[in-house]
Amino acid sequence: MFDVKDVLAKLSIQEKISLLCGDQTWQLTGFEKHNVPSIILTDGPHGVRLEDKSATTPFTFLPATVYPAEAAMAATFNTDLIHQVGQSIAKECHFYNVSVLLGPGVNGKRSPLAGRNFEYYSEDPYLSGHIAAAFINGVQSEGVGTSLKHFAGNEQETRRFLINSVISQRALHEIYLRPFEIAVKQANPWTLMGAYNAVNGSPACQNSYLLQDVLREQWQYEGAVMSDWGATRDKLEAHNNGLDFEMPGPGKQNEFLFEQFKLGNISQQTIDTRALNVLNLIKKATEGKQQITKINWQQHNKLSEQVAKESIVLLKNDNHCLPLSKNINVAVIGQFAKDSRFQGGGSSSMTAKMVTHALPELEKVANITFAQGYIEENVTTTQLAEAVAACKNKDAVILFVGTTDAIETEGFDRTDLLLPKDHLKLIDAVLEANSNTIIVLNCGSVVDLQSFVNKTPAIVMNWFNGQASGSAITDMLFGKISPSGKLSESFPICLEHNPSFDCFPGGKNDVEYKEETLVGYRYYDTKKLPVQFPFGHGLSYSNFEYSDLEIDITQNSVTVTVKNTGQIQAKETIQIYIHPIKSYLLRPEQELKGFVKTDLAPNESKTVTIVLCDRAFEHYVPHLNRYACEAGLYEIRASSSSRDIRLTQTVNIQSNDPVKIKPTQKDTVFEWFEDERTFADIDELLKLLEIQPGHFFWGILKSLPIEHAMQMINNMTLSDEIRAKCKEIISRHD
Ligand code: BGC
Repeated sequence: MFDVKDVLAKLSIQEKISLLCGDQTWQLTGFEKHNVPSIILTDGPHGVRLEDKSATTPFTFLPATVYPAEAAMAATFNTDLIHQVGQSIAKECHFYNVSVLLGPGVNGKRSPLAGRNFEYYSEDPYLSGHIAAAFINGVQSEGVGTSLKHFAGNEQETRRFLINSVISQRALHEIYLRPFEIAVKQANPWTLMGAYNAVNGSPACQNSYLLQDVLREQWQYEGAVMSDWGATRDKLEAHNNGLDFEMPGPGKQNEFLFEQFKLGNISQQTIDTRALNVLNLIKKATEGKQQITKINWQQHNKLSEQVAKESIVLLKNDNHCLPLSKNINVAVIGQFAKDSRFQGGGSSSMTAKMVTHALPELEKVANITFAQGYIEENVTTTQLAEAVAACKNKDAVILFVGTTDAIETEGFDRTDLLLPKDHLKLIDAVLEANSNTIIVLNCGSVVDLQSFVNKTPAIVMNWFNGQASGSAITDMLFGKISPSGKLSESFPICLEHNPSFDCFPGGKNDVEYKEETLVGYRYYDTKKLPVQFPFGHGLSYSNFEYSDLEIDITQNSVTVTVKNTGQIQAKETIQIYIHPIKSYLLRPEQELKGFVKTDLAPNESKTVTIVLCDRAFEHYVPHLNRYACEAGLYEIRASSSSRDIRLTQTVNIQSNDPVKIKPTQKDTVFEWFEDERTFADIDELLKLLEIQPGHFFWGILKSLPIEHAMQMINNMTLSDEIRAKCKEIISRHD
């Protein structure tokens, strides 16, 4: 094994510079003479997507296991399971000699229109961060690296190479950086990928605030930072400000950087630091190498199926119409039942090793009449008529609809939340023909359900659920398993309710994150807006009873007892939200700060312990430039969804953090009256003046800045002694 410092000492400056860019599209520079191999990096994130170099057509990828897309992974709320996914993807990486998987992505979901939402975990930074950490730890435990992407502020596809995301410090840290921070601190990804866009005026790959101040200094990150493919705008600035290597290769700008070095515009020390980070990455990859020549593809397929089973969200189930009984007569409608729609478009789109479509699986358990319904987005008159005919006299209809690659893909944002027009037409016609129609949504993220939500008894969110989604959905529909997925993002009633509606995707240059920290349920709950289906929602075939909420603040943990009161084995995710009862700065109504998923047999009870987030009671306080905790009362909510709060308890949190800015003489009498640090003194002064709340002059006085109030006091008919006393009282807070 090579020694990094030794190799660095032997490299010429040009060789060091060559490490600062890939050698090829998917490969880093290596040096055979020093035993430094040229390692392979490839997408990601829900499986290995390695280009087939022997193929004669472009975009041909070697077959690998396709796991559910990230939004679905997050809906499992099962970190152990996602850790296993990471491990099994790493094995496939070894099989294909891949050293770094380009994922996971933890960007935010400020708008449901964002084209890559399916590739990101959740609208909630805590859930995203924890699922990402589990995934990264899984992959890296097998000696393969990950690339946490896209750092940061990449919440849209529109003008992604050009747009500048304007984000307040508070929203940046609490919402958009938080999942990165959790993943960096809990899983230490080997690499991190800088985004295309700029953040607050500086392109992400050369943004020294993000790359140096936050990542290296505050979070103590020691891995290597790469650019997204083609994201380096100014190579000199980028390396000077914290980027270790540019992708993809070959290094067309190596010569340019060498010239800049000669001109003294980049130091030897900076080049050494960057080259050392790249060499360390190559070394980790070399040490982690495993010779895997055989994959148990069936076992990986089973794991993909298990994730799919745990991610399916039963949104609606009137009169317990699901699960269906076996051997009934069912019409199955829709191309996506036959040709599974299991992943989205763009750089995450893979070649599946094997695919289980739903139709043949459904045929094993019921008497099925199938009708194609549509091809991609289009329904012909004949297809419509066949679908309607198939539905007649059936015990139930299962209708598969969803979005296509033209709708949900990298590179574009959606323009609305609607399903394809023809799918909506088909839904109407099928519901008309048979009202017992279960709608299965094959979408990577939220869609508008308004036109049919009240007409159908059951809706199932089946996501882009990976290569084994056909058997998973069959088991769920026919009750072999109870659904246990919970929504990783809110379903608003309509797009217009979304807080970023009037500021997404921004203008030509800038997109302003005007909604601040009020993203997703943080907004809907604070505004008390009704939603179609709330964050964390997901029905079960069983019922759960919550009891005995106990809080141990010294351990930062919560315990709850949950009982399965239904007839079947089922899993429940207990979600802990924290609601600040009173706060100095506007804070969301509640925020997720812990969760656990537990499996319960009928009648079984378990007492589960949930360790809360290390920042459970903190928020980012702009005037302190850091996270801080405001002392006071907080309600802890043990919930089955963000809108299904089962148990609450109030705790009194002590803190000396100066979250509230102490009033000065420039602030008002009322502000002095409201603050415990100035109350006693202003109260004393008011008593001297014989003015109390309720006095006819109180309204005028309380709105005056202290300085003005003092001028007024000077002009009042008062004894010199009282006037002097008033002055003395105020001067206590100079
Ligand atoms: C995407 C990245 C991806 C890279 C390599 C970029 O367009 O934004 O997520 O890893 O391409 O395919």
